[in-house]
Amino acid sequence: MTLIKKNPKTLDSWKKLQSNFNNLSQKKLTDYFTEDPNRLDNLSIIWKSFYVDFSKNLLDKLTLKLLIQLAKESGLKEAISSYFEGEKINETEERAVLHTALRQTSPTPVVFEGKDIVTDISKVNDQMFAFAKKIISGDWKGYTGKPISHIINIGIGGSDLGPAMVTEALEFYKNHLAITFVSNVEGDHVEEIIKQIDPETTLFIVVSKSFTTQETLSNANAIRKWFLTHAPESAISQHFIAVSTSLEKVTAFGISEKNIFSMNDWVGGRFSLWSSVGLSICLSVGPDNFKKLLEGAGAMDDHFRSSNFKENIPVILALITVWYNNFWEAETEAIIPYSQYLRSFPAYLQQGIMESNGKGVDRNGKPVDYQTGNIIWGASGTNAQHAFFQLMHQGTKLIPADFIGFAKPLHEGNDHHDKLMSNFFAQTQALMQGKSAQKVTDELKSQGKSYAEIEKLLPFKVFEGNRPSNTIFIDQLTPFNMGALIALYEHRIFVQGVIWNIFSYDQWGVELGKQLANNILNDLDRENLAHHDPSTKALINHYKKIRT
Ligand code: F6P
Repeated sequence: MTLIKKNPKTLDSWKKLQSNFNNLSQKKLTDYFTEDPNRLDNLSIIWKSFYVDFSKNLLDKLTLKLLIQLAKESGLKEAISSYFEGEKINETEERAVLHTALRQTSPTPVVFEGKDIVTDISKVNDQMFAFAKKIISGDWKGYTGKPISHIINIGIGGSDLGPAMVTEALEFYKNHLAITFVSNVEGDHVEEIIKQIDPETTLFIVVSKSFTTQETLSNANAIRKWFLTHAPESAISQHFIAVSTSLEKVTAFGISEKNIFSMNDWVGGRFSLWSSVGLSICLSVGPDNFKKLLEGAGAMDDHFRSSNFKENIPVILALITVWYNNFWEAETEAIIPYSQYLRSFPAYLQQGIMESNGKGVDRNGKPVDYQTGNIIWGASGTNAQHAFFQLMHQGTKLIPADFIGFAKPLHEGNDHHDKLMSNFFAQTQALMQGKSAQKVTDELKSQGKSYAEIEKLLPFKVFEGNRPSNTIFIDQLTPFNMGALIALYEHRIFVQGVIWNIFSYDQWGVELGKQLANNILNDLDRENLAHHDPSTKALINHYKKIRT
């Protein structure tokens, strides 16, 4: 069974949602609470140490019922089975999407193309864990006999963002190894990194699923060249490791077979941190914490797979996004983690969400006539409050937001956490309630302002409120909870893609720019640029003039 290919607008639930929206569009968020004393109970889910409150959204019981009907009419139940059972739901690349098998909590075989892949996954994991133990303990020595103290991850996109975000998020659990990520094809960046490293004690992990990516190969080549100015060729095997699906390409690059950690085609780049792409995470926090990360994701997979839609966190949050994206015409969604450890989480999700659901053609190959992938942005609270919250509170745009917070801090002995959490609670409250003209007037009066002064200031100080948010409130930032949080978003992406009738697991949209960049690279030493448009031609000529 493949995913069904129905235009969501033709579904009965969609039409009913449209009239539900027309009825609710003027309604105040605060009124929903007055009308329904059980609103919070009805619109929140508690799962393990996650408390997800979605009551501060512009929707009523009927909306939720219709959204769940929409999920059902879109064939979500069957689609979830296809996803977990390894059907080739990435139809345009003829691939399965099986990152869930990498963190499966039960030993039940996952059969793909007639073979149980769980056994292969365990083998690679064992290889990773054994390797990590050797590096962490110092048993693995560099070419001059010193232990490794610095890891450089060379990769881009999914081969960088996931591992970089998770190692940062789990900094508290980190060991002594320093870890640096090189991604951009920018000589200056590579040179700055080279300045900080000692060839005798550094391990380089070249991570590329395809092993064809320009950025990664250029950086790996530059670093290798630099390394060989210090060390003999024979030292490569002690310092260069690769993660890839392509054994041939890696060995052609000069990394020996025993230093390759394999990965499979059925893991998409942006969902690959659970595979050997997560080697830098495993090195940084150790195999035990890496296993807990996998367990957390696996637990969320079980929740997603087995809970009914009404109690299903990824399903409900995905449906809320569809509600705002397609009925309220919200173009963007903000993600605000109240944790400095999670400062890169919004950037990580930008790839996950936008590369997956930024599609304008449906599963029938026809242009869509409705909105799909929303724009994701955000930053950590409270920094975000002092940057862009003005627009969220008083701007002209509707910006649904996810607030993510942790009840217990990791470090004890300071009084910051109550302050941080007070801000976390206050912001969603302020977004919802706003501040009425009466309240502003009373406040200004109590400050001794005159009637004229109050009249002048009033419009600027009123907050209309009525701005929606979800709160994802987790007990503590542990590897388990981090794994579950990431998996939550992964499944949310999947649900949205199913409903929007698009293919979420290809990324053809990034290819054209890569092709043109290669053409232009070849043109930089050519005289004849007549085949370029006037603007690009002038830019290239300007560059050629300045660089020489
Ligand atoms: O940006 C496109 C993309 O294909 C991503 O999906 C992927 O994560 C990234 O490039 C890196 O690819 P690779 O791991 O093959 O180097």
